This record gives sequence, structure tokens and C-alpha cells, in this order.
Amino acid sequence: MASGRPRLTVLILAAGQGTRLKSKTIKLLHTVAGQPMVTWVARAARALKPDRVVAVVGHQADAVRLALGDLADAFVLQTEQRGTGHAVLTARRELSQLPGTLLIVNGDLPNLRAATLKALLSVHRRSKAALSLVTTELPDATGYGRIVRDETGRVIRIVEHKDADRAERALREINCGIYAADPSVVLPLLARLKPDNAQGEYYLTDVVHRTIEKGGMVAALRHEDSPEVLGVNTRAELARAGALLYARKAAELQDQGVTILDASRTWIDPRARVGQDTVLYPDVIVEGASSIGADCVVHSGTRLTDVVLGNGVIVKDHCVLRESRLGDRAEVGPFAHFRPGAVLEDAARVGNFVELKKTRLGRGSKASHLAYLGDADIGPGCNIGAGTITCNYDGTGKHKTTLGPGVFIGSDTQLVAPVSVGEGAYVGAGTTVTEDVPAGALAISRVRQLNLEGWVARRRAKTGKAGSTHS
Ligand code: UD1
Ligand code: CA
Repeated sequence: MASGRPRLTVLILAAGQGTRLKSKTIKLLHTVAGQPMVTWVARAARALKPDRVVAVVGHQADAVRLALGDLADAFVLQTEQRGTGHAVLTARRELSQLPGTLLIVNGDLPNLRAATLKALLSVHRRSKAALSLVTTELPDATGYGRIVRDETGRVIRIVEHKDADRAERALREINCGIYAADPSVVLPLLARLKPDNAQGEYYLTDVVHRTIEKGGMVAALRHEDSPEVLGVNTRAELARAGALLYARKAAELQDQGVTILDASRTWIDPRARVGQDTVLYPDVIVEGASSIGADCVVHSGTRLTDVVLGNGVIVKDHCVLRESRLGDRAEVGPFAHFRPGAVLEDAARVGNFVELKKTRLGRGSKASHLAYLGDADIGPGCNIGAGTITCNYDGTGKHKTTLGPGVFIGSDTQLVAPVSVGEGAYVGAGTTVTEDVPAGALAISRVRQLNLEGWVARRRAKTGKAGSTHS
């Protein structure tokens, strides 16, 4: 390496099942803030620009591989889950050829920040320890490995909850499952571990006292902000971990000049971007790598998934917009549904109970109420009346509707695709359009109205019943 930067390898332990979630899906694949849990720790590790990221997989290995994708450089299969020590040992061949520091992290730490990993590495290097680990104090440490220190305050051992006696269980400092290690010291010690404990497992944590027995130094970074470094084990912790990621994102956006009226009720995917002076009402959900421009207003109950919104866009209450693009000053809702491929050009407007799919609405065009627009290309300055339906599906294939600029579609129109309406044409209310309409024409297909004068009175005389009177 040209730069003198110390070498770094990251090992993510991701082979376990996580039974306490009581799920068909393993714990690490459960979604936290829109992403599989295991990916968060991988992202934090990636931010350190390590030379290599290796993941140990086992339960639902293929799905974990898929979830991690490029976040890991290599995968090692641990076919039988015989403990965290065994997991590291399984990856031994991948690790022993790599010089430098080995960072080992449990896969169930979605709130872990890169800054904490950096702090651990700096403690590790400064103290010249063979092994360093992150600890934190909890009011109730039940379930966790406890940190045992000697009279001078040095860490001497970790005792797992199930193996701990009463005095040890009273300890409130816990092991977080985040370690920096010198692999030349730790890997040989791991090879000599025995599963002589309550769980019959090979404990990675046993390496602590083994290192000390060999005369090595063990350093600890006591972390103040416990929620960040706690593993997720239950559904309640899963919810808390997601809420924390969303809270961080909201705080970051607020710092950048976004108004979030109630951050605890607004979920914005950490990958999303939101522009300055945009206002987000409570119960707005932004999913995926969505991009929302400046000066937008998004009202309550709206879900935006993989969308791109320009500047000054208004989305009223209770809209569901997915894989759609809205130009500057576009307006949508309330109660609109955009499926993939909906495009509103600048200043276009869509009102209540309108569904769009693979449809472009040109600049300044309006569909204000009750319509289905699918596979349609609608020019600028069009007016789509209430109850307009593009009949895009004939039972076998999908067909396109094309409207030129300035077209007026009267209410309750069916456009039977494939069909096109030329520039400036009008379609009368109640028309079923089955043939192309030339530019500038009026298309009208409804039956001529008949008024039968005096019909009601004649009927009443015949039947003796009061036809239109309310009972
Ligand atoms: C572990 C620590 C404990 C610590 C706690 C923090 C050990 C022995 N104990 O306990 O001190 O307080 O984490 O949350 O390490 N895994 C594998 N292969 C296995 C077993 C586990 O890859 O054979 C993975 C899991 O997928 C998980 C991580 O290792 O990501 C930790 O495993 P888990 O079973 O949650 O460890 P704990 O018993 O909670
Ligand atoms: Ca755990």
C-alpha cells in the first residue's frame, strides 16, 4: 500500500438465527428503517474504508448474501452455529493472510455508528492492546455478557449471563459485541477454545481472559450512549432500533433547514434527500432513495416510495406515490394513488381519487377528480374531467392513450386504447372514444336525450302509485 494507512479487515458475524424474534425470517434480515438489519452494521464498517469486509453466514445464508451484496467482499459459510468464537474461527483462512487490525462486529447492531468504530480503533492502537472491546452500562443487563474488572479497573474477563453467578449478574457493564483485535494473537487462542459452558458454545468472549493469560493487553471503550451499541434481540428492540435511525435522519434534516412538525411521527428513509424549507407533516413516510426538492409541503398520511419531487411540490393528505416523478409546483391529492411510472410535468395537478400508472401528465395539465389514467401520454395544458377512464387493458395486452396539447376531456369519458386525441380537441361528457380524434375536433358518442312530456302523471294514473313521492 502506497499510503501508510494501517490495514483493516472487518468481520461481520451474521450466521445466527435470533430465536427471540419468533419469526420464520432470521433476525438479521428483519427490516430496520427500510433495510435488512445486517446491512446497517456493514454500512458503518464500510465508512471506515477497510481493506476487506468478510461476513460469516449460516442461517438463510443465501438471503443474507443477497441482502449484504457489495457491502461485503467475501462470505464464509458456518454450516453449524456453534458460537461466536466458532464463527470467527470458520473465517480463519480468510483472515490469517491479512495483516493489520481485525474488527469483529455482531450483525445485530443497526444503530452502531462509524464514529464509534473509529473511536474503538483509536483506543486499540493507542493502548497497543491485543484485543479491545466496546462496553456500556445498563440498568438491567439481563441476557448480556458482563464485563469483569479487577481492583485496578482493568478488564480481565467476560462472563456470559447464563454462566454468571449472583455477584456477576449484579454487574451492569456489558459486552456489546464490537471488538478490535490483533489477529496474530487472537486467532491462535480461538483455535484452543472449548465449549465448556452453560450453552455448550465456543465463546468469542473467552478470548479476553486467554489474551490476558498470554500476557496480552485488553482495552475497553466504555460507551455512554447505550442505545447505539445494543444488539436487537426482540420485536420491541427492533421497533426501537428503527425509531432511532429515523430520529437521527430527522435531526439531520432539521439541521439542514427542513421543517418536520413531529419528528417522532415522520419516517424518512436514511437514504432519502429533502430540500430546504420543505415542510413535512406528521405521519408522512418517505421510503427508498427518494428525493424531495425545496419548498415542498407533504401533508399527513402520505407515503412516498422511490419518488423524485421537484421544488414547491404540494402533496395533500393520504396519498400513496411510488416510483413516480413530479415536476416543480406540481400538486397532488388528497387521496391520490400513483403507481410506477407516473410523471407530472411542472405545475400539473391531480386531485382526489385519481390513479395514475405509467402515465405522463404534461405541464399545467389537470385531472382534478375521480379518474384512472394508465399507459397514457397527456400533453401540456389538458383538462381531464371527473370520471375519465383510460381503458388500457383488453384482457390480453396493455395499450396506449395519447393526448395532444390543450385537449379537453369531458366528465365520464372512456378512452378505449389504443387511441389518440389531437391537439386542442374536445371530447364531450359521457363519450366512449374508440377511434382517434383529429386535432381541433369535437368527439361525442352519447345517445341523444329524449324528454317525454307529462310521462309521470300518465304513469301515476295507470298504476295508482305515487312514483316519485318519498314515503
Ligand atoms: C453475544 C456475546 C455477549 C454480548 C452480546 C451482545 C458471545 C459469546 N457473547 O451474546 O457477551 O453481550 O453478544 O449482544 O459472543 N453468530 C454467528 N455464529 C454463531 C453464533 C452467533 O455468526 O455460531 C452471530 C449472530 O448472528 C449474531 C452475533 O454472532 O449476529 C451474536 O450472536 P448472539 O447469539 O446474538 O450472541 P449473544 O448470545 O447475544
Ligand atoms: Ca445478541
